[in-house]
Amino acid sequence: MKEKIEDLRSIAIKELKEINNLTDLDNFRVKYLGKKGELTKILRGMGSLSQEERPLVGKIVNELRGELEDNIKNIKSNLENKKKNEKLKNEKIDITLPGEKINLGHRHPLMQTIEELENVFLNMGFSVVEGPEVETVENNFDALNSPENHPSRDMTDTFYITDDILLRTHTSPVQIRTMKENKPPLKIISAGRTFRFDDVDDTHSPMFHQLEGLVIDKNITMANLKHTIDMFIKELFGEGMKTRFRPHYFPFTEPSAEVDVSCLNCMGKGCKSCNDTGWDMELLGCGMVHPEVLRNCGINPDEYSGFAFGLGVDRIAMVKYNIDNIRLLFENDMRFLNQF
Ligand code: DAH
Repeated sequence: MKEKIEDLRSIAIKELKEINNLTDLDNFRVKYLGKKGELTKILRGMGSLSQEERPLVGKIVNELRGELEDNIKNIKSNLENKKKNEKLKNEKIDITLPGEKINLGHRHPLMQTIEELENVFLNMGFSVVEGPEVETVENNFDALNSPENHPSRDMTDTFYITDDILLRTHTSPVQIRTMKENKPPLKIISAGRTFRFDDVDDTHSPMFHQLEGLVIDKNITMANLKHTIDMFIKELFGEGMKTRFRPHYFPFTEPSAEVDVSCLNCMGKGCKSCNDTGWDMELLGCGMVHPEVLRNCGINPDEYSGFAFGLGVDRIAMVKYNIDNIRLLFENDMRFLNQF
């Protein structure tokens, strides 16, 4: 009997050594330790043993049971660890993989234009100020000396919020705010959105952008205005650019002028886009600040004088980037915007 158990043991241990997965291990456990297993069989057959032999065989069987159970336990935990490590290895995050690309945006071409304009004027000693897009009728029209019956005041031209409040039709009211809140000398520019009751076409939009400039000091003359505009145009478009001042009317300046610049397409030689004139028309409006406007803001016109100018930023961006349709600036089509 003892030899039989010893043989069983060596077979079992040999089998154990070859087990390399949990299913086989469980089959092994059932085969030897299960209800109908080899060891149980031996225990059941003990009835045929002698009185002396029984406890001895029982002891050996129990020892073998303990040995096999310990082995199974160890192999089980080894296999489980192996399985866990393999799983971890497969799930390991490869931190050397390149990350997901983040879609970075960039400045809108209009904002790029405004920044460029601001930089030119900052270099000329101007300060940048801001004004609200929702304005009073007083600042937008009255204080700017705009006549009571001026067509631009009409409901069909201007977005009114109440009788006294509107969406500013130009950036000129920033002049009024600046002069009312500060004492001369003043040298400011201000860029931002402006609104008019316009139908949309290739060059018009009910929302557009302007940049306003204002200089107030003693002894400021038209010569200062012309020089400033000249410098600005050359700085922005290049040395070869010429300016042409045409007399015009604005209620808030006297005298007033509109400024044309050399056609950017042909640099003044004459081409199809400038109708062979060599000039790009109406890039900006300007003039000497009207004495009445100074008075409206508490500045004595006998002591101070100044000039002002206003230019269309969208127009400049379109000329600069060769854009032929203003709608493109406001549609937020990434295919268009990513070109700049
Ligand atoms: N505000 C005028 C407009 O929107 C532009 C303008 C003209 C501004 C002459 C000025 C100026 O400051 O002096 O058409």
